[in-house]
Amino acid sequence: MIGIIGAMQEEIDVLLKQLTGEKLYTYGTRKFYAGYLKEKAVVIVKSGIGKVNAAHTTTLLMEHFDIDYLMNTGVAGGQDVKHNHVVVSSNVVYHDVDATAFSKNKYGQVPNMPESFFPDITLMNNAKVLLDELNIPYTQATIATGDQFVYHPSQIEKINQVYDDIKAIEMEAAAIAHIAEIYHKPFIIFRTISDVLGDKDQHLDFDKFLKKAANLSAEIITKYIEKFVWIA
Ligand code: ADE
Repeated sequence: MIGIIGAMQEEIDVLLKQLTGEKLYTYGTRKFYAGYLKEKAVVIVKSGIGKVNAAHTTTLLMEHFDIDYLMNTGVAGGQDVKHNHVVVSSNVVYHDVDATAFSKNKYGQVPNMPESFFPDITLMNNAKVLLDELNIPYTQATIATGDQFVYHPSQIEKINQVYDDIKAIEMEAAAIAHIAEIYHKPFIIFRTISDVLGDKDQHLDFDKFLKKAANLSAEIITKYIEKFVWIA
């Protein structure tokens, strides 16, 4: 089955509405909704915001369900992209990890883990085919994760000093990819831009655009599953 993770309720609402044959499983404090999306077996879960919540929830998902691959849906802060633009992960990095003082770790790299997490190439190519077909503006680019809402110029500058190709910044994707790496499972991330880094009212835009942006990512997930998933 496909595991679908969103950090906030707004990020999974549209998917839950379309779920059929729903069965609820509770592990710890997390609620897992198993059922069918477009007649394909899925399990949907709200992780909560941030890296620890995302890693905890993804681990529970891996331990309790027979997951073929992971999809993460949600919103992000955008750089050089507009509101409601979709960013599909070409790779995912942590922007707030620094163990560079020892063992030649790269900035962003958790020791003994890759410095960047790469989604499955087939999932990525399918995503491109789908978004081209639907005529949805998107970019395939690096997504950066950290435990911060990024809006202040000093935060943005610090991240861009290390990475020159970040288009979306959010708070869970690398943690989900990290767990996917540990369990050797493919993953893909779809994030729609809710707020644009450096915009005057960026923090207000998050709330203003959250629902619309979250719904677009979720709709893409549904369409992806309808078109490309063969597991009943
Ligand atoms: N999610 C949506 N917008 C974000 C931002 N600016 N920083 C971190 N996570 C976000």
